[in-house]
Amino acid sequence: MKVRKAVIIAAGRGTRFLPMTRSQPKEMMPLVDKPLIQYAVEEALNSGIEQVIIVTAQGKSAIEDYFERSPELEHFLEQKGDTERLSQMREIAGMADISYVRQKEQLGLGHAINTARELVGGEPCAVILPDDIIDSAVPCLKRMLDIYEKYEAGVIAVERIGDEDTRKYGIIEPKQVAERVYQVLSLVEKPEPAQAPSRLGIVGRYVLTPQIFDVLAVTPPGKGNEIQVTDALQLLLKQQKLYAFELEGIRYDTGTPLGWLKANVALALKRDDLGPELREYFKKLL
Ligand code: UTP
Repeated sequence: MKVRKAVIIAAGRGTRFLPMTRSQPKEMMPLVDKPLIQYAVEEALNSGIEQVIIVTAQGKSAIEDYFERSPELEHFLEQKGDTERLSQMREIAGMADISYVRQKEQLGLGHAINTARELVGGEPCAVILPDDIIDSAVPCLKRMLDIYEKYEAGVIAVERIGDEDTRKYGIIEPKQVAERVYQVLSLVEKPEPAQAPSRLGIVGRYVLTPQIFDVLAVTPPGKGNEIQVTDALQLLLKQQKLYAFELEGIRYDTGTPLGWLKANVALALKRDDLGPELREYFKKLL
C-alpha cells in the first residue's frame, strides 16, 4: 500500500532550548529564514506524501497559524505592490493538506505517534521529527519510501554515531542487505556503549506499517519513563521485518543550541544571497 500520509511530531517540550521555548515552539525557530517545521513539510511533499498530520501540544498554536492564510498580511503586501512576497505567503498557506492533533500529555515519542492513529486511519505512514534536519541531494524520506516499497516492510533512518553517543540514541543490530540498507535484527533505546549492538543510531525519520499502532497502544514506558517507539518496533519485530537506511548527506540536530547554530551557518553559507558575505564576515571574526 502506498504511503500517502506523513506524521510530523511537534509535541515535545524542548527543554534543551529553554528559555527560548517558554513561549515559542522550538519547531518555529528559524533555519536561516524559514521555521524548522516548514523543512519537515517540504521534505514530506518532495518525497511524494499527499497528506500531512502534525502532532502538536499546548502552547504550539503558532504552528497552526503559520500554515493558515493571513488575509490582512496579504492585503497589506498587495497594497504595497510587493507581489513576490505576496505569492510566497500564499504558497505557504496552500502548500499542503495539513491536519492537526494534540498530544495532551507528553508521555513520549511513541505516545505522540499513537496520538495520530485516528487520522492515519489504518494506513502505513511516514514519521518526521522536525528537529532532525537532513541536507541531502535526494530527500531522506524519499529514499526510505523506495526501500519500503522494495522490501514491503517498515524502514527507519540511522546514522553512524560515536561511542559515547549510544546513550542518546536508539541503536540497531544490523545485517547489511544492500548499500546503506540493513535488516534490523533488534533495537535498543539509549544503551551504554558496551551494551550497544552497533554504532548505528536511529534518527528522526520512520516509515511505519499500520500494525505499529496496536503495538504502541500496549508498549509500556521505557527509558526516561516515556513510551518509546524503539521499544514498540522491537516488539513488532516478532511479527514482521524492519529495515534501516543509513542516511546520505548531513544531519543536523537542531534540538540543541549548538546543532541549531551549525545548521544555520552551514545552510546560510550555501546560499548565493548570503554565503559570500557571511564567509567574509567569518574570516574577519576568526
Ligand atoms: P526529544 O526528547 O528529543 O525532544 O524528543 P523534546 O522532548 O522536545 O526536547 P527536550 O529533550 O525537552 O529538549 C524527540 C521527539 O519526540 C517529540 C519531540 O517533539 C521530538 O520531536 N516528543 C517527545 C513528543 O512529541 N512528545 C513527547 O511526549 C516526547
